[in-house]
Amino acid sequence: MTKNILVLAGDGIGPEVCAQAVRVLKKLTGSAFTYSEALIGGAAYDAVGTPFPADTLAKAKEADAILLGAVGGPKWEKLDYSVRPERALLGIRKELGLFANLRPAIVFEALVEASSLKPELVAGLDLMIVRELTGGIYFGEPRGVTTLPNGDRKGINTEVYTTPEIRRIAKVAFELAAKRGGKVCSVDKANVLEATELWREEVIHISKDYPKIELSHMYVDNAAMQLVRTPKQFDVMVTTNMFGDILSDIASMLTGSLGMLPSASLGAKQENGKQHALYEPVHGSAPDIAGKGIANPIATILSAAMMLRYSFDMKKEADALEAAIKKVLGQGIRTGDIMQDGMKKIGTTEMGDAILAAL
Ligand code: IPM
Ligand code: MG
Repeated sequence: MTKNILVLAGDGIGPEVCAQAVRVLKKLTGSAFTYSEALIGGAAYDAVGTPFPADTLAKAKEADAILLGAVGGPKWEKLDYSVRPERALLGIRKELGLFANLRPAIVFEALVEASSLKPELVAGLDLMIVRELTGGIYFGEPRGVTTLPNGDRKGINTEVYTTPEIRRIAKVAFELAAKRGGKVCSVDKANVLEATELWREEVIHISKDYPKIELSHMYVDNAAMQLVRTPKQFDVMVTTNMFGDILSDIASMLTGSLGMLPSASLGAKQENGKQHALYEPVHGSAPDIAGKGIANPIATILSAAMMLRYSFDMKKEADALEAAIKKVLGQGIRTGDIMQDGMKKIGTTEMGDAILAAL
């Protein structure tokens, strides 16, 4: 049966950047896939009163892979927490069991100057952050805000990790490292938080199955510092949900633009061989530039390349797509967010055109 890609364009620039990624996918893969669409985020809230409709969940469970644009925007910021667009992201991660979030930070040669760090610190950077995505403080119970008898209010969130949760994400990190630079740095706060003391013990336990991989450990505060000091020391970093959220934003800025970074969120392989997977750009919905046709579609197109690589084993096509993007950047073509002196500034669709032409 033809494989199906579900496109969840979402809010802000989401629809614009997804449209370009779908164009590129169609050109690259012909009729290999069918495409369907569903509502998510603020767009879904406006249409049906919830950011993550049951119909969207059903389609997501059926799909062979999901391409997501972005969710959220000022229009929905005042809504109750339970119906905020961001809840849809947490919901889809949890419902599909997308526990492994892969966030590569790659510096393209043509963009070395765009980084906020000195060129020699970031040239050639190729780092992969593996963030645990369905556990930890994002989902731990108890949680919430309560009022104490004396009228004071109390807010609680709970960092929780079990051994299976840690072991499966550690395996993902070691497997990836084996195909890359052979190094894993596990990031925790084991000097203070017991849950991450367990994290460290379990990562060490799994490392025994990967004797060729060099394992190191870092406290998260030090890791944040090292990322901006000497980022090239890292190959694969594996960490908890919240630490991964923070460190991946730091890592993204090393590359010069959030508009360049893709991500993959993967579930466990099921018995029938199926694996839920969602691909999305790391940048958000960028409401300030939405609808203007100026957003950078490269992060979404690179997310499509990750989809070809991880969900469909289409390495050749993924390589070709990444090469086409490098070529276009080499030609001096830029969207506004990565604009440099002397380069040619173009919009979202023109960037899609240029990448199609380079394929
Ligand atoms: C991310 C985002 C989300 C997160 C928000 C929007 C819920 O920051 O994907 O990194 O915290 O996971
Ligand atoms: Mg984040």
